[in-house]
Amino acid sequence: TKVPERNKERSFIMIKPNGVQRGLIGEVIKRFEQKGYKLVAMKFMQASEEHMQKHYTHLQSKAFYPGLCKYMSSSPVVPMVWEGLDVVRTGRVMLGETNPGDSLPGTIRGDFCLHVGRNLVHGSDSIENANKEIALWFREDEIVTYTAGQYDWVY
Ligand code: PPS
Repeated sequence: TKVPERNKERSFIMIKPNGVQRGLIGEVIKRFEQKGYKLVAMKFMQASEEHMQKHYTHLQSKAFYPGLCKYMSSSPVVPMVWEGLDVVRTGRVMLGETNPGDSLPGTIRGDFCLHVGRNLVHGSDSIENANKEIALWFREDEIVTYTAGQYDWVY
């Protein structure tokens, strides 16, 4: 199957420590799968505080930065790469607003959480940042190339 370039856009989506602790890994994955996106990389790991400081380096000047990096490295996370049409933008729509209080029901944050510091899941906010985040979390050979049967049926 020849897949058009626009259907190969990638986003970095990460289930945060509270998503893992609350047993919502499957729920998050389910939503991306049923939407039609293709999983191309995934890990289950506890990251170091230093790694989280790199991930959130653009937030260095914020008062919540030290606490955010400590929290994010306190317990396992599930970093993933999802692929498909407009996945960066549409993935953010599926996540809901950064502040769960502003997230509509039907979005992941709208359905499952309350507080901005515990908003369950991270999603890249631009294609450029997606590429940076994917490179920080995955080696090139950890991103899997395969043909999913769903391709012929989603597009
Ligand atoms: S900003 O200020 O607009 O750049 O930040 P924002 O886009 O709102 O949020 C970026 C990430 O920081 C997290 N965040 C917080 N964590 C802990 N405590 C507080 N108060 C807080 N405010 C924002 C927020 O969850 C975003 O995380 P990601 O992983 O990017 O979704």
